[in-house]
Amino acid sequence: MKVAVFSTKRYDRISLSEANAAGMHTLEFFEPSLGERTAALAADYPVVCPFVNDRLTPEVLEILSGGGTRLLALRSAGFNHVDLPTAERLGLTVLRVPAYSPHAVAEHTLALMLTLNRKVHRAYNRVREQNFSLDGLMGFDLHGKTAGLIGTGKIGAIVARILLGFGCRVLACDPSPDEDCLRRGVEFTDLPGVLSGSDIISLHCPLTPATRHLIDERSLGLTRPGVMLVNTSRGGVVDTQAVIGALKAGRLGSLAIDVYEEEADLFFRDLSDQVITDDVFARLLTFPNVLITAHQAFFTTEAVGAIARTTIGNITDFQAGRVRAENLVTCAMIKG
Ligand code: NAI
Repeated sequence: MKVAVFSTKRYDRISLSEANAAGMHTLEFFEPSLGERTAALAADYPVVCPFVNDRLTPEVLEILSGGGTRLLALRSAGFNHVDLPTAERLGLTVLRVPAYSPHAVAEHTLALMLTLNRKVHRAYNRVREQNFSLDGLMGFDLHGKTAGLIGTGKIGAIVARILLGFGCRVLACDPSPDEDCLRRGVEFTDLPGVLSGSDIISLHCPLTPATRHLIDERSLGLTRPGVMLVNTSRGGVVDTQAVIGALKAGRLGSLAIDVYEEEADLFFRDLSDQVITDDVFARLLTFPNVLITAHQAFFTTEAVGAIARTTIGNITDFQAGRVRAENLVTCAMIKG
C-alpha cells in the first residue's frame, strides 16, 4: 500500500525501511508534522503513518479522508492525538502499537527518578568544570520510601517491579489493578490514597478526557510536602501551571518530565539557536529541581525496531482485510 509517513526522522526512515525490506508497501517519508497545512501531502495515500505530536484534528481527518486515506497506522501506543469520534464517523481505521517495549519507558522512568534524586545531571556538569564540591547534591535513599503509581498497565507494572527491587513500598491506583502487581505486594488504593501516601509519584495512565489534568492544584494539595513527581505518560495528564505553582511554593520537591502539554511545538527538533516563546516551558527550565527530557523514554533500539515492525504488520494486515483486535483504537477506549 502507499504510505505517507509524517514527522519522519532519520531513525524512522531506517527502521521502517528495514521492517519493509520485503517491499510490501511503498513508503513516502515526509519530514513535516501532520497538521492542517500539511495534510494535503497525503492525497491519494490510503495509509497515513503519524507520530505522537502530529495533530489529527477533525479538520485534518476531513482532509485525509477526502484525499482517499482509509488507515491511520500510528507509530505509538498513545492515541490522544487522534480525534476518534471524527475518525469513526469518516470510517477511518486507526491502528496503533500497543506494546513495543514497555521496558524502555519503565527504565527511562527510573533513570529520571535516580538522576533527579541524586542530581547526577548537575554532578556531571560540575565535575567537568573541576568543581568537586558536594554542596547541593544530597539525595535520599530510595530504599524504604513509598512510591505511588497512577496506572499499572504494561509500563506501570514494570516500574512497580523495579521499585520493589529497590526496597520501596509501592502504592498504586488503577481501575483494573494488575494481578501480578497484587501478587508481588503492590498495595492498591484510590487516587487520593496514592497522592497522600507517596514520597514519589509516577504517572503511567493514558491521556483521556478523564485523565486530563489529573494532577492539578487540587490533587497537588493532597500530596506530601516535598514529593517527587515523575511524568513519562502524556503531558496533558498534568496541569503545568499548577505544578509550577507547587514548585514555587515548595510543596512539590522535584519534578521530572519526559512529556509536556505543549510539546508539539518544541520536542523532536533542534531549537538551540531560537528563542523559546512558550513562557510556561521556559519557566520550567529555570528550576534547579526540575529535570526534563524531550519525549525520549521510548527511544531504545529494541523499541524503535518493534514500533516499525508492528506498524508495517498493521498495514499488511489491513491490506489483507484483517486487523489485530489489540492494535485497534476505538472510541470506546476514551469513554469512562
Ligand atoms: P496500558 O494501556 O498498558 O496501561 C495504562 C493503564 O492505565 C491501564 O492499566 C489503565 O487501566 C490505567 N488507567 C486508565 N485510567 C486511569 C486512571 N484514571 N487512573 C489510574 N490508572 C488509569 O498503557 P502503557 O503501555 O502502560 O502506557 C501508559 C502510557 O504511557 C501510554 O498511554 C502513553 O501515553 C505513555 N507512553 C509514553 C511513552 C514515552 O516515550 N514517554 C512511550 C509509550 C507510552
